[in-house]
Amino acid sequence: MENLIVKGNANLSGKVKISGSKNAAVAILPAVAITAENVYLDNLPDITDVRTMIEILENLGVSIRRRGKNALELTPGNLSKIAPPYELVKKMRASYYFMGSLLARFGRAEVPIPGGCDLGPRPIDQHLKGFSALGANISIEHGMITLSADKLVGAHIYLDVVSIGATINLMLAAAGAEGRTVLENVAKEPEIVDLANFLNAMGASIRGAGTDVIRIDGVRSFSGAAHTVIPDRIEAGTFMLAAATTRGNITVEEVIPKHLEAITAKLREIGAVVEVEPEKINVKAIDPLVPTDIKTFPYPGFPTDLQPPGMVLLTAAEGLSVITENVFDGRYNHVDELKRMGALIKVEGRTALVEGGSRLSGGPITAPDLRSGAALIIAALTADGESRISAVEHIDRGYENFEQKLINLGASIQRVSEKGYKQLSYNRE
Ligand code: EPZ
Repeated sequence: MENLIVKGNANLSGKVKISGSKNAAVAILPAVAITAENVYLDNLPDITDVRTMIEILENLGVSIRRRGKNALELTPGNLSKIAPPYELVKKMRASYYFMGSLLARFGRAEVPIPGGCDLGPRPIDQHLKGFSALGANISIEHGMITLSADKLVGAHIYLDVVSIGATINLMLAAAGAEGRTVLENVAKEPEIVDLANFLNAMGASIRGAGTDVIRIDGVRSFSGAAHTVIPDRIEAGTFMLAAATTRGNITVEEVIPKHLEAITAKLREIGAVVEVEPEKINVKAIDPLVPTDIKTFPYPGFPTDLQPPGMVLLTAAEGLSVITENVFDGRYNHVDELKRMGALIKVEGRTALVEGGSRLSGGPITAPDLRSGAALIIAALTADGESRISAVEHIDRGYENFEQKLINLGASIQRVSEKGYKQLSYNRE
C-alpha cells in the first residue's frame, strides 16, 4: 500500500497536458480481439487499468510491442483463448468487454461475473439481454458467464437503462453478427463514439454512435487499423474543478472542449472564469464561490465520475448546495472522509446537502475508490494543514502521473510506503 503526503493551502496554477481517455482505452483494447490483423494504438494512458488490459490480451495470445510510452503495436492473429484469466479480470470491471469482442470473433466467450463495486449494485442484465437477442446462449455457473452462438444474427434491441457498458458490449458483438442490429436508448458518451470510429477503421459498419440509436451492419471479418485515443474528459474535468477549488489558475491542454461543456457551464455557475479555446480550457477562480446544485446524468449531462470532485468544490462555496446522483445508487463513499475533514454534508438516498464555506482540515484519509480518491486529494490540497492519503492504488488505476501533474501545478506531494519510507519525492519541473 502506498500513501501520499499532501500539504494544504495550495493554489494550483499552470498548464497540464491531459492524457488519453481511460474509459475509451479500456473499451478499445478488448476490441482488438475482434480482428486477426495488426493494430496500432496511440495516446493510451499509462495507468494500471491499461496495463491490466495489456496483460489480459497477452494471456489470450496477443503479442504486443510498446511503441513509446503511450503507443502499442498489437498482433491478435495468434489469439486463441476465449477465457480471460480470473485473477486479472477481477481487477477491473471493464474486462467484461471481452464478452462482446470474443463472441464476435469466435462465437464463444467465458468471462467471470464482474465484481460488484463500491458504487453500489452494478448489474449486467442489459448486456445479457442484448447478447441473447443476438442469438447467444448464456449460462452462468460457478461465477463464470459462458456465452456461445453458432451464429450471431442482427436484432432490434431497446436498452431499459442507458448503460455505457451494455452499449459498448452490444456494439462489439453486433459488429460481427449477420445482418443489421439496431441499438436504441443507448449511451452517447464520447468514449462510445471513439470505439465506433476504431471499429469502423477496422472495417465495421457502425452509424449513429453518439446519438440515441446506433445502427450496425455486421461484417464477416475485420482488418487492422491505427487509432489515436481521445483525451480523457474526466481527467480534464478533475483538473478544472481542482483549479476552482484551490482558487487557482489552470489551463488543461490537448482536450476536446465539446466533451467538457457540462463542466464548463457548472463552473461558470459557481463563479469561476472559464476561457475556452479550440484545444485547451483555462479555469480560474477567486472568492466568493456561489453555492450551486449538481445533478448527474448520462452524457451530455454532468458526469457522475466528476460528482466527487464537484462535491469538494461545493464545500468551498458559501451556502447550501444540493447534489443529486442520478446514475448510481451509492456513489457517496467520499462523504465520510470529507466529513472527517470538517465538511458539513448530509446524504439522504441519492441526494447530498452540502453546507459550504468552512475550511477543511487535513488529516489521515483513505481513498475509497478511483474518483473519490482524486476528490480527496483535491480536498487535502485546499485544507488547512497536512494530509496523509492511503490506498492511492485506486487513483493509479485511472489517472496517469496524477501527483506529478499536481506538483507541476505547485502542489507539495510526496509518495511514501505504508511504513512511511519516502519512496519518491518530486520537485516542481
Ligand atoms: C461506465 O461504467 C464507466 N466505466 C464508469 O466510470 C462510469 O461511472 C459509468 O459508466 C457511468 O458513466 C467505464 O467506462 C469503464 P453503466 P458502466 O453501465 O459501463 C445500471 C470510472 O471511474 N446498469 O453506464 O459500468 C448501472 O447499475 C468508472 O472511470 C443496469 O442496471 O456504467 C448504473 O446504475 C466508474 N444494468 C447505470 O446503469 C446493466 O446491464 C449506468 O451504468 C448495466 C448498467
